[in-house]
Amino acid sequence: MFRTHTCGELKITDVNNEVTLAGWIQRIRNHGAMTFIDLRDRYGITQLVIDEDSSDTVKKQLTELGREFVIQVKGTVRERSSKNRNIATGEIEIGVVNITVLNSSEIPPFTIQDDTDGGDDLRMKYRYLDLRRNKVRDNLILRAKMAHAVRSYLNEKEFIETETPVLIKSTPEGARDFVVPSRMNEGEFYALPQSPQVFKQLLMIAGFDRYYQIVKCFRDEDLRADRQPEFTQIDCEMSFVEQKDILETFQGLTEYLFKEILDIEVTEFPWMPYSEAMEKYGSDKPDIRFDMLINDISDVVKGKGFGVFDSAEFVGAINADECSCYTRKQLDQLTNWVKRPQIGAKGLIYVKCNDDGSFKSSVDKFYSQEDLKIWADTVGAKPHDLILVMSGDREQTLSALGELRLEMGNQLKLRKKNIFKPLWVVDFPLLEWNEETERFHAMHHPFTAPKPEDIHLLETDPGKVRANAYDLVINGVEIGGGSVRIFDSELQAKMFGKLGFTKEQAQDQFGFLMNAFKYGAPPHAGIAFGFDRLVSLFAGLDSIRDVIAFPKNNSGRDVMIDSPSQIAQEQLDELSLKLNLKE
Ligand code: AMO
Repeated sequence: MFRTHTCGELKITDVNNEVTLAGWIQRIRNHGAMTFIDLRDRYGITQLVIDEDSSDTVKKQLTELGREFVIQVKGTVRERSSKNRNIATGEIEIGVVNITVLNSSEIPPFTIQDDTDGGDDLRMKYRYLDLRRNKVRDNLILRAKMAHAVRSYLNEKEFIETETPVLIKSTPEGARDFVVPSRMNEGEFYALPQSPQVFKQLLMIAGFDRYYQIVKCFRDEDLRADRQPEFTQIDCEMSFVEQKDILETFQGLTEYLFKEILDIEVTEFPWMPYSEAMEKYGSDKPDIRFDMLINDISDVVKGKGFGVFDSAEFVGAINADECSCYTRKQLDQLTNWVKRPQIGAKGLIYVKCNDDGSFKSSVDKFYSQEDLKIWADTVGAKPHDLILVMSGDREQTLSALGELRLEMGNQLKLRKKNIFKPLWVVDFPLLEWNEETERFHAMHHPFTAPKPEDIHLLETDPGKVRANAYDLVINGVEIGGGSVRIFDSELQAKMFGKLGFTKEQAQDQFGFLMNAFKYGAPPHAGIAFGFDRLVSLFAGLDSIRDVIAFPKNNSGRDVMIDSPSQIAQEQLDELSLKLNLKE
């Protein structure tokens, strides 16, 4: 037997027992006559003691040990004289009788402890060492627990877990596909799935009724903290349901996870139309942990000779409670912050609401105290508050105000990680106009059903058609998205037409689906959760990288295995591929 116990389980009740442990040497502390070794495994740390009572062999071995050596230790459990209440095994230690070195280790490139000295890049290169650290490992244990809980909930509700293929054909979902050349089919390519969307719909046509899969998806898009080129979805589909049924079922899943994993009751999931989210929060994924809503003040600010506002399509304001104390420097910093290319605002106007009921603004030249009082009343500002105003193109200004709102939420510490505020954003537009391609694109994907009451607008005003599409948003993060699907081949063909597909293109790319619709497709709807995002939200982390065992860096590279990489000429030849690299 390699070990009788793990490094996380021995307690005071085990004192005097003979035990065998195995693990990695975290630390060696030499105190003259006594040497302490912290032995670590996945379960915890146990203190080993080598002292005068230890044999000469053990004392000699001690001189050869180093950090991260893998050892097996036999010894006796003893009560510690100075106890460590911070760790589970802190009341005991092991008087070492025998050490077997199972493997030596080079000196690791960074210290393997909670506060490591390793930078991001180094830890990514040696990810297997980083995974030895408690924090990183705990995130992955949380992930495993959550996957288990997801399966329990969905299995109990009779969802059938079904695998769908990974080598598929391109499905347009907004991002670029990763493609895989086929040796046996010269000049042809598979695509890796951006999601199993069409397969899950086919499973509904096959009568599966309820499907789920915790599945890898691949998208060749620009990366951010919440985006990886390969990521995991909890992908689900149900037949004979309406939007309400999906929202109830997956509110249920989310509530269940909060209770099972974090032991908290989160039961309020308000529904907010997309239009309201955009108008009040400047975002389709509003963080509703705090208010500070956007107010349209266009009507009250125009006509006073301030050209910037007079010529703007939209003037909007947010009110930051108790912030009239913001200094010139802080306001300048905020102005520079909104002017960064990521936000792209031209400037920021402020109004400080003084304690005595008067106002101080950056546009005092154009607006009287009475004018500013009207602004304050419109946005609900009180003395001590700070009104921040932006103007310009309506959509851009709303979005910039939305970003500023989040920044103020950060500065005022209103975005607490241990508070969870979910909501369903509903009634998304079906289509969005793309200036570059000069055509409509599906906002969610081409299989999303329009709201029946808006179908007539498809011909006259396609941009106004709302979809039966919904997103689950928690704390400003888009956790999941889905829709009620089109299940009628004619409506689907019409949709493809609106998206600029010719009949032939639609037939070529989606003939199989439209055909399948002809054989008794049931009404169906579904959703996919971004599993990595959900886990990082539960872990209180800002980046999904920390909940992925082997993530890619921001350039989409795996720096540990050094991928992507070139392939041999023979492989290229076999695949009939010729590279035409840019200089
Ligand atoms: P959608 O494209 O909205 O819907 O994706 C669903 C959820 O997946 C997560 N997500 C990502 N997570 C990490 N990295 C990425 N690059 C990434 N892209 C998306 C998000 C998102 O909400 N087939 C549809 C679902 C459906 O209609 O049922 C789909 O994929 O959390």
